[in-house]
Amino acid sequence: MNATSFLLKGDLCYSVDPNTLRSVPNGYLLCVDGRCAGVFDTIPESYASLPLLDYTGHLILPGLTDLHVHAPQYTYRGLGMDLELLDWLNTYTFPEEARFRDLSYAKQAYPRFVEDVRRGPNTRLCAFATVHPDATRLLMDLLEESGLVAMVGKVNMDRNASPDLQEESAEASLAATVSWLEESAGRYQRVSPILTPRFIPSCSDPLMEALGKLQRERNLPVQSHLSENRSEVEWVKELCPSSHGYGDAYDSFGLFGGENCPTIMAHCVLSDDDEIALMRERQVYVAHCPASNTNLASGIAPARRYLEEGIPMGLGSDVAGGTHCSIFRAMADAVQVSKLRWRLVDSTLAPLSATEAFWLGTMGGGSFFGQVGSFLPGYECDILVLDDRRYNPPEAHSVQQRLERTIYLSEDRDIVHKFVRGSQLF
Ligand code: GUN
Ligand code: FE
Repeated sequence: MNATSFLLKGDLCYSVDPNTLRSVPNGYLLCVDGRCAGVFDTIPESYASLPLLDYTGHLILPGLTDLHVHAPQYTYRGLGMDLELLDWLNTYTFPEEARFRDLSYAKQAYPRFVEDVRRGPNTRLCAFATVHPDATRLLMDLLEESGLVAMVGKVNMDRNASPDLQEESAEASLAATVSWLEESAGRYQRVSPILTPRFIPSCSDPLMEALGKLQRERNLPVQSHLSENRSEVEWVKELCPSSHGYGDAYDSFGLFGGENCPTIMAHCVLSDDDEIALMRERQVYVAHCPASNTNLASGIAPARRYLEEGIPMGLGSDVAGGTHCSIFRAMADAVQVSKLRWRLVDSTLAPLSATEAFWLGTMGGGSFFGQVGSFLPGYECDILVLDDRRYNPPEAHSVQQRLERTIYLSEDRDIVHKFVRGSQLF
């Protein structure tokens, strides 16, 4: 089905702000031209002629956004979880990503990733590909076909990896990026490019300068990594002796947020006061990746502080730092690590509630894509229809309690229908 105007009936639940959930049992969601036009207790008379999709008894939620995921790393999830970041990258990540130079390898690997995300609860994603333009385009083609909405980055890296992965020079990396952008232009309705310098240790100063210039010329969004791991932060100090910190190193190339440079920085586990102040000033998005930060022993990001300080934030799976793509799982992980941080590190930062974690995985990350992640009027109709009877006995719980249990207990098989921008994926 492709009609993008309809009424959908079920037990609706969505965020209004970080601390407010709205539930409407047996309600009607009105979708007009792919956007929400209201939630009602009874069918509004002027729309009575629209098709009615009757999902009575099902839980209806906004789609989830994965603000940080590495598509090529899907192949080796769960490996090397005894290592910390830099050793893990050198031992597992870089050798695996090097294989995507071979398009036939990418043709085997990427469909599995895309199909898994398509079947799961995420409707939007910001994905890293690899340095290879052909494989990156293949990933973009597959995501477009899947019906998901995605920003995808061809990764830039011209130093500190092995020669079989890193690009030959700053000029070569820039040229590959420009031709990738040109060949992708006008090709997609749901997929768009995002500039993706891997992280400071992978990108020389001349490359970062060139990417900053390219960003300003084309107003591209940016994604990268920030202050994830202690050895990494120390290394950045050595690599950028004139910078005042890791965030300032990006900023010195004009790649750290601001009005015309929407930016996502993954992790922000070890950001100091100055870096956090700059993130707030520039409205840099934090992609909070609790599973990855646990697996790689990176630490626990102060998510409560970011919320309190008004820093935009969403959740990331960071596959393969994280093992699972589902952002429901990231919500549960975010609550759990926030409790450990409160108990063991800083009792002044209260743990996250399930309501806050749900907001992060829907509206928080969704806002990077515009009006996404809620059923408020004007929001794009990304919708999950869940049959939650497997773990929620009928009548036993309120709609809000069913949502809480869904965060912890649902599996992809419980999602019976999924819509993105009002179009039905299944
Ligand atoms: N920093 C630079 N590259 C990566 C990556 O692939 N994963 C994670 N978690 N951190 C990174
Ligand atoms: Fe990452």
